[in-house]
Amino acid sequence: MKAVLSVLSLGFLLAGSPALAADGAALYGKHCASCHGKEGKNGKDVAIAGRPEDVIAANIKAHPLSMNSFNLSSKQIQAIAKYLAHLKP
Ligand code: HEC
Repeated sequence: MKAVLSVLSLGFLLAGSPALAADGAALYGKHCASCHGKEGKNGKDVAIAGRPEDVIAANIKAHPLSMNSFNLSSKQIQAIAKYLAHLKP
């Protein structure tokens, strides 16, 4: 597990903004993946990988299904948006 984590953080390091990316991925997995699928694809609801950051952030703040039910700070929302925006659609 520790090895896997180091490999992951190395990947994020190379991709830039390591902390944000790591947080975004974890937060996405926890709050969004159940509906939007792994990496924003092939979930039971809309595919959202690769959407612009500001669109994703706005949707989390006023999500069509569950408005304001996400208990996320604006930092966390930015991290999720950044993570998703950099995934391939
Ligand atoms: C309970 C299931 C569910 C969860 C959890 C969920 N979503 Fe959604 N999301 C949906 C559905 C369904 C829609 C489409 C609603 C519609 O089309 O009116 C949607 C729409 C969106 C959209 C707009 C897509 C578009 O093109 O209109 C974005 C962006 C989005 N969700 C991001 C997220 C993020 C980020 C999270 C995690 C913080 C999240 N969602 C969690 C079900 C979910």
